[in-house]
Amino acid sequence: MEIKPITLDVSAAFAAGTGLTSSDLEALAPQLEAARNEVCDDAILWRDGGPVPPEKQPLDAGFIDLPQRLLHEYREKREHSEVGRILATARRIAGEVDRFVVLGIGGSYMGAKALFDACCHPYHNELSRGDRGGRPRIYFEGNNIDNDAAAGLLDLFEGADPGKLDQRWAIVVISKSGGTLETAVAFRTFLAKLREQHGGDLSKIGPLVVPVTGESGRLFDLAGAIGCPDLYHIPDGVGGRFSIFTAVGLLPAAILGLDIVALLEGAAEMTRRFREEPAASNPALQYCGLGELWGRQVEAYIRVLSVWGTKLEAVGLWNDQLYAESLGKQGRGALPLTVVNTRDLHSRGQQHQEGRRDKLITNLIVDTQRRDPIAVGVSDLDQDQLNELSDKTMPQIMEAAVAGTNRAYELDGRPTCDLHLPAVNEAALGQLFQMLMLSTVTKGHLMGVNPYGQPGVEAYKQHMNAYLRGKE
Ligand code: PA5
Repeated sequence: MEIKPITLDVSAAFAAGTGLTSSDLEALAPQLEAARNEVCDDAILWRDGGPVPPEKQPLDAGFIDLPQRLLHEYREKREHSEVGRILATARRIAGEVDRFVVLGIGGSYMGAKALFDACCHPYHNELSRGDRGGRPRIYFEGNNIDNDAAAGLLDLFEGADPGKLDQRWAIVVISKSGGTLETAVAFRTFLAKLREQHGGDLSKIGPLVVPVTGESGRLFDLAGAIGCPDLYHIPDGVGGRFSIFTAVGLLPAAILGLDIVALLEGAAEMTRRFREEPAASNPALQYCGLGELWGRQVEAYIRVLSVWGTKLEAVGLWNDQLYAESLGKQGRGALPLTVVNTRDLHSRGQQHQEGRRDKLITNLIVDTQRRDPIAVGVSDLDQDQLNELSDKTMPQIMEAAVAGTNRAYELDGRPTCDLHLPAVNEAALGQLFQMLMLSTVTKGHLMGVNPYGQPGVEAYKQHMNAYLRGKE
């Protein structure tokens, strides 16, 4: 399949007054390439089974070659491969139910949400089954402990008749550790509802629950007790926020009918470019290098991902989590922030234009829209004075907004760069997710911070558990 590349244009970051120059980025190339080589060596170390030196632990470098490995296995073994099995489960679930809930938190749901928002109809859940292409509606829970949010979703399933396709529902429960409290509590609650509606018959419930988890743990044990016929493993060495190309992201995406092979092909192509291309043309290295310069030269630590389109907001939030959990360690790490434009020009634009000079802005721009362009059109009610723009379309207005905003920032010496997606589709998103993951771990190598693991998150869990169990 021909993959249209995503492209990164960093030239506007070097406008007068930004404090950054293109020669600084060029001078950084040897360090970027050395860090890239270390990342690639880590992938080999992980593949060969170690031994992993203590300073590299944990080493979750399994994500780097995962897309290639999955594609290779799929081509060799088809329905007996991981991708083949995921596609079969997805077809079965899509055929048997009209709604499914994804239970998971952090890296165990954000990728699926990003793919859903970006690729599906913006009102997917409101459409008829036919208009959804026979694919079920999707809901997300277990990503919080919000009583009323969970109760609200349970309301939707209240009284569902399992004999009727349009009322049947299923659960995809995702937790690598299998012990995360938020997800576990939600699973118990939703499982109880499903059980009640199927007269407590576990043999009927098992096929409607698909767990995605590690190779042992509480969720793994629970899956065995329920008798779930389909169970997916998150491989060792692929951390939560790096797991979008495992069943964590692929299974919900496949249930929704997304092209997961194209997604993996996009990701594999980005890994190839990361390995082979020099820093000057390597998007992951350029992106990483610009962030590094922003910290080093200007000592500024806010990274804004400015997504130009509502459907990319969850992609931005996925990236916020990736960056923050990977690099926010040892008293270091920049603050990642997603803004959705033009929406947030009306809430944050003032500060980005005239506030502290601590923000590096990356525009995530979509070059082609999926739907026919909507034109302003002529109206006999021209009090809004839009007739003079009657031939303009929404994509043209968006283009003018991007150009106008970039120009305003440039004139004020505010650094920006443009990351272009040829379209919002699986192949482009595969490249983007992999680029951001590779760039983040490369940045970790430059900073001397292990990007894997999230030791700091354990502290809240321990205290929360201690309070709940009366030990604190
Ligand atoms: O990136 C990570 O590892 C985390 O965000 C985890 O995905 C999150 O804490 C959920 O963990 P688990 O999948 O074990 O429930």
